Amino acid sequence: MLDVVVLVSGGGTNLQALIDAVESGAVANTKLAGVISNNRNAYALQRAEDNGIPGICISPKEFASREEFNERFLDAVDTLQPDLIVLAGFLVVIPPAMIEKYRNRIINIHPSLIPSFCGTGYYGLKVHEAALKRGVKVAGATVHFVDEGTDTGPIILQKAVEVVQGDTPEVLQRRVMEQAEWKILPQAVGLIAAGRVKVEDGRVFIRE
Ligand code: GRF
Repeated sequence: MLDVVVLVSGGGTNLQALIDAVESGAVANTKLAGVISNNRNAYALQRAEDNGIPGICISPKEFASREEFNERFLDAVDTLQPDLIVLAGFLVVIPPAMIEKYRNRIINIHPSLIPSFCGTGYYGLKVHEAALKRGVKVAGATVHFVDEGTDTGPIILQKAVEVVQGDTPEVLQRRVMEQAEWKILPQAVGLIAAGRVKVEDGRVFIRE
């Protein structure tokens, strides 16, 4: 059984997609062991509660220093003993010690086709604003392992989504979520739970 801890900051629609996929059996051999949010008001925490998943709030704002937060945050994650950590719209920088300890066991969903529109400053609606400004005709989402860089880790899955003339950032964001994020995030967790994902030389190989 793959014990998964999901880190969130906001609405939690990707968390919901995971909950639904585990519930329906589309993602097998997986247990959602906890949800951690840095934002007490995140609707994602409500989704966790509604589904009987333990929810915790821990915010850098509650600590005198970032070092102190990082330590306590890592403790909170360790206590849940995850096999996999999923960043689903988590807006806090992951402590280096956590990346080291959970190497190739932390995944992130990013709302673009990496390496386009990623890295520092590209989060949330900003990604879609930049894509529309550049005039790309294809957008999409990426699930990748987390390493020390920003959106630089090994790519697990990507899915393309069409950009439609007249799209606003909000409309494109919604289409990318519906057609890509909510599909490939549960799919990636399922592949990992099935032991089919291997990282070699910074690249992901998926066993048939
Ligand atoms: C998603 O667009 C995700 O790709 C990005 O943050 C957003 C989170 O949305 N990293 P939600 O909280 O899952 O609804």
